[in-house]
Amino acid sequence: MREPTKNIPADKLVRVTFQPEGRTVEFEFGTLPYEHHGKPMSFLDVAENHGIFLDHACGGVCACSTCHVLTKAGETGLTAADDDELDRLDMAADQQLNSRLGCQAVITRPGDYVVEIPKWNRNYVAEGKPLTLAEQK
Ligand code: FES
Repeated sequence: MREPTKNIPADKLVRVTFQPEGRTVEFEFGTLPYEHHGKPMSFLDVAENHGIFLDHACGGVCACSTCHVLTKAGETGLTAADDDELDRLDMAADQQLNSRLGCQAVITRPGDYVVEIPKWNRNYVAEGKPLTLAEQK
Protein backbone atom coordinates (compact mmCIF):
# COMPACT_ATOMS: atom_id res chain seq x y z
CA MET A 1 0.00 0.00 0.00
CA ARG A 2 1.28 3.45 -0.96
CA GLU A 3 1.92 5.96 1.85
CA PRO A 4 -1.10 8.18 2.55
CA THR A 5 -0.89 11.82 1.51
CA LYS A 6 -2.70 12.84 4.69
CA ASN A 7 -1.91 12.04 8.32
CA ILE A 8 -3.81 8.74 8.34
CA PRO A 9 -2.40 5.61 9.97
CA ALA A 10 -1.51 3.15 7.21
CA ASP A 11 -3.56 0.36 8.80
CA LYS A 12 -6.69 2.54 8.71
CA LEU A 13 -6.25 4.14 5.31
CA VAL A 14 -8.99 3.80 2.71
CA ARG A 15 -8.04 5.01 -0.75
CA VAL A 16 -10.66 5.05 -3.49
CA THR A 17 -9.86 5.98 -7.07
CA PHE A 18 -12.66 6.86 -9.46
CA GLN A 19 -11.77 6.12 -13.09
CA PRO A 20 -11.43 7.21 -15.82
CA GLU A 21 -10.74 10.62 -14.25
CA GLY A 22 -8.24 9.04 -11.89
CA ARG A 23 -9.50 11.08 -8.97
CA THR A 24 -8.34 9.52 -5.72
CA VAL A 25 -9.77 10.23 -2.27
CA GLU A 26 -8.34 9.10 1.04
CA PHE A 27 -9.87 8.87 4.49
CA GLU A 28 -9.54 7.01 7.73
CA PHE A 29 -11.69 3.90 7.96
CA GLY A 30 -14.69 4.42 10.21
CA THR A 31 -14.59 8.21 10.19
CA LEU A 32 -16.57 9.07 7.07
CA PRO A 33 -19.79 10.96 7.87
CA TYR A 34 -22.86 9.38 6.34
CA GLU A 35 -24.33 11.50 3.53
CA HIS A 36 -27.59 9.54 3.31
CA HIS A 37 -27.06 8.41 -0.26
CA GLY A 38 -26.74 4.65 -0.55
CA LYS A 39 -25.51 2.35 2.16
CA PRO A 40 -22.99 3.84 4.62
CA MET A 41 -19.45 3.41 3.25
CA SER A 42 -20.75 2.50 -0.20
CA PHE A 43 -18.97 3.97 -3.21
CA LEU A 44 -21.87 6.38 -3.58
CA ASP A 45 -21.45 7.48 0.03
CA VAL A 46 -17.72 8.00 -0.54
CA ALA A 47 -18.39 9.96 -3.74
CA GLU A 48 -20.97 12.18 -2.03
CA ASN A 49 -18.60 12.87 0.82
CA HIS A 50 -15.92 14.08 -1.58
CA GLY A 51 -17.94 16.07 -4.10
CA ILE A 52 -17.66 13.46 -6.85
CA PHE A 53 -20.77 13.12 -8.95
CA LEU A 54 -22.02 9.57 -9.28
CA ASP A 55 -25.53 9.44 -10.63
CA HIS A 56 -28.09 7.98 -8.23
CA ALA A 57 -31.55 8.58 -9.62
CA CYS A 58 -33.34 6.58 -6.91
CA GLY A 59 -31.39 8.21 -4.08
CA GLY A 60 -29.36 5.10 -3.37
CA VAL A 61 -32.07 2.62 -2.42
CA CYS A 62 -31.35 -0.09 -5.04
CA ALA A 63 -34.28 0.94 -7.22
CA CYS A 64 -32.47 1.98 -10.41
CA SER A 65 -29.08 1.19 -11.95
CA THR A 66 -27.74 4.67 -12.59
CA CYS A 67 -25.00 4.23 -9.95
CA HIS A 68 -23.50 1.32 -11.94
CA VAL A 69 -19.72 1.05 -11.49
CA LEU A 70 -17.08 -1.48 -12.49
CA THR A 71 -14.77 -2.61 -9.69
CA LYS A 72 -11.14 -2.65 -10.83
CA ALA A 73 -9.41 -3.27 -7.49
CA GLY A 74 -10.39 -4.03 -3.91
CA GLU A 75 -13.25 -6.42 -4.62
CA THR A 76 -12.35 -8.64 -1.65
CA GLY A 77 -12.83 -5.72 0.73
CA LEU A 78 -16.42 -5.16 -0.40
CA THR A 79 -19.66 -6.68 0.79
CA ALA A 80 -21.00 -9.33 -1.56
CA ALA A 81 -23.87 -8.32 -3.81
CA ASP A 82 -27.19 -9.49 -2.38
CA ASP A 83 -30.17 -10.71 -4.42
CA ASP A 84 -31.72 -7.24 -4.64
CA GLU A 85 -28.51 -5.76 -6.07
CA LEU A 86 -28.05 -8.65 -8.51
CA ASP A 87 -31.63 -8.31 -9.72
CA ARG A 88 -31.16 -4.59 -10.25
CA LEU A 89 -27.81 -5.09 -12.00
CA ASP A 90 -29.54 -7.33 -14.50
CA MET A 91 -31.30 -4.18 -15.71
CA ALA A 92 -28.08 -2.13 -16.00
CA ALA A 93 -26.63 -1.18 -19.37
CA ASP A 94 -23.43 -2.98 -20.38
CA GLN A 95 -23.29 -5.27 -17.35
CA GLN A 96 -19.89 -6.88 -16.73
CA LEU A 97 -18.61 -9.57 -14.34
CA ASN A 98 -17.21 -6.80 -12.13
CA SER A 99 -20.35 -4.66 -12.20
CA ARG A 100 -21.67 -3.36 -8.89
CA LEU A 101 -24.17 -0.76 -7.82
CA GLY A 102 -22.29 2.14 -6.30
CA CYS A 103 -24.97 2.59 -3.65
CA GLN A 104 -24.87 -1.05 -2.52
CA ALA A 105 -21.18 -2.07 -2.68
CA VAL A 106 -19.87 -1.28 0.82
CA ILE A 107 -16.21 -0.93 1.80
CA THR A 108 -15.68 -3.22 4.79
CA ARG A 109 -12.02 -2.63 5.57
CA PRO A 110 -9.08 -0.31 4.91
CA GLY A 111 -7.30 -0.74 1.59
CA ASP A 112 -7.08 0.42 -2.00
CA TYR A 113 -10.18 0.45 -4.15
CA VAL A 114 -10.59 1.41 -7.79
CA VAL A 115 -13.90 1.78 -9.57
CA GLU A 116 -14.63 2.80 -13.12
CA ILE A 117 -17.75 4.69 -14.02
CA PRO A 118 -18.98 3.13 -17.28
CA LYS A 119 -18.48 5.04 -20.51
CA TRP A 120 -22.16 5.78 -20.96
CA ASN A 121 -22.19 7.52 -17.59
CA ARG A 122 -18.91 9.43 -17.80
CA ASN A 123 -20.22 12.76 -18.94
CA TYR A 124 -22.29 12.88 -15.79
CA VAL A 125 -19.03 13.14 -13.92
CA ALA A 126 -17.33 15.51 -16.30
CA GLU A 127 -20.24 17.88 -16.59
CA GLY A 128 -22.00 17.29 -13.32
CA LYS A 129 -25.32 16.94 -15.10
CA PRO A 130 -27.12 14.43 -17.29
CA LEU A 131 -26.75 14.47 -21.05
CA THR A 132 -29.69 15.55 -23.11
CA LEU A 133 -31.03 13.09 -25.66
CA ALA A 134 -29.50 15.17 -28.46
CA GLU A 135 -26.04 15.01 -26.81
CA GLN A 136 -26.14 11.24 -26.48
CA LYS A 137 -26.35 10.59 -30.23
S1 FES B 1 -28.74 4.85 -6.97
FE1 FES B 1 -30.41 3.69 -7.65
S2 FES B 1 -29.67 1.68 -7.48
FE2 FES B 1 -28.01 2.83 -6.77
